[in-house]
Amino acid sequence: MTHDPTALRALFHAARHGTGLAGHEAALEDAAAHLPLLTAALRLHAARAADAQVYDQPAAFEAFIRGGGNVPLYAQVSAELAAQAAGARSLLDIGCGDGHALFPALAAQPHTLECLTLVEPASALLASAVARAQAEQPALPVQALNEGLGAFAARLQPGDRWDIAQATFALQAVPEDERWAGLARLRAHVGRLVIVEFDVPPLTRGTDAHLLSLAARYERALGEYDGATRELVGQGFLLPMLLGQLDEQTAATNWEHPMPLWRERLAAQGWRVQRLERLCDYFWAPVFVLVAEAG
Ligand SMILES: C[S@@+](CC[C@H](N)C(=O)[O-])C[C@H]1O[C@@H](n2cnc3c(N)ncnc32)[C@H](O)[C@@H]1O
Repeated sequence: MTHDPTALRALFHAARHGTGLAGHEAALEDAAAHLPLLTAALRLHAARAADAQVYDQPAAFEAFIRGGGNVPLYAQVSAELAAQAAGARSLLDIGCGDGHALFPALAAQPHTLECLTLVEPASALLASAVARAQAEQPALPVQALNEGLGAFAARLQPGDRWDIAQATFALQAVPEDERWAGLARLRAHVGRLVIVEFDVPPLTRGTDAHLLSLAARYERALGEYDGATRELVGQGFLLPMLLGQLDEQTAATNWEHPMPLWRERLAAQGWRVQRLERLCDYFWAPVFVLVAEAG
C-alpha cells in the first residue's frame, strides 16, 4: 500500500477532472511501487480520456461480474441461498437484479417452492430475471413487481406471506430510511429473512485511511483479471466506479455498514438473528450472511 495519500489524491483528482498526468511523475512513481495495476490503469485512462466512449460499459460490467472473484463469490452465495430455501414453499427476493444469485440457487437442487416473488425497481433487470425464470423454472409461478422495497412494503396486505425473504447485495442500494422501515414492515409477513452483504471496514469517507483502503481494494480487483479483460474491466467498470466514489459532488448511491450494525438494527425491530457469519473473502470486503427469524 502506498504511504503517500497526498500524491495518490492528486492522481485521482487529475483522473477525475481529465487534466492529464503531466507533472505527476513523482506521484506516479510512488504509486506504481505499491499499486502497480491501479497506476497502469490510471495512465491508460489519462491517455484515452479524449475518447471516453472507447469502452463499452455494459460489456465491461458483464466481464467483471462473470470473472475474477465474482465467480467463487456467487457460487458461495447461491449455495447458501439453496440451503436456506430447502423446504420453503414461498420465496421473496428483494432487489433480485437479473437473478444472478437466485437462479443458480434454485437450480442447485430440487426445490419445494410453489411461488416466487421478485421485487426489483430496475425494469431491464427485472425483465431479464423474468425471462430467466421462464426458461429455467417454467413450472414455478412468478410474481414480478417493478418497484423498490419501500413501495412494496407500503402495499403489503394482512394475508401476504412468504416463508423466506432474501436480499443479496441489494439492501445496501436502498436508502436507509426506506430500508429499515421496509424491513420492519416485512416482519409480519415472512418467516425468515436472509441477507447477504459486505462487511465493510468502519472508515470515514474522505479520510486518508479511506482513500488508501479504496486504492488497495481496486488494486486487488484489477489483479483478478488478465490481459485484454483487465483493460476492459478496469477502464470500463472499475476505474469509473472508483473515481465516482471519490467524487464528493456525487450523491451516495449505496449505504453499507460493518456486519454488527445489521444485527443491532434488525434485533431492535424484533427480528431474532440466528446466524451472522462471514461467507467468503472478496476484493471489496468480506461477504457475510445474516439469517433472522421473524417471531
Ligand atoms: C448489486 S445489485 C444485486 C442484484 C442481485 N440481488 C444479485 O445478487 O446479483 C443491487 C440491486 O438492488 C436494486 N435496488 C436498488 N434500489 C432498490 C430499492 N429501493 N429496493 C429494492 N431493490 C433496489 C438494484 O436495482 C439492483 O438490482
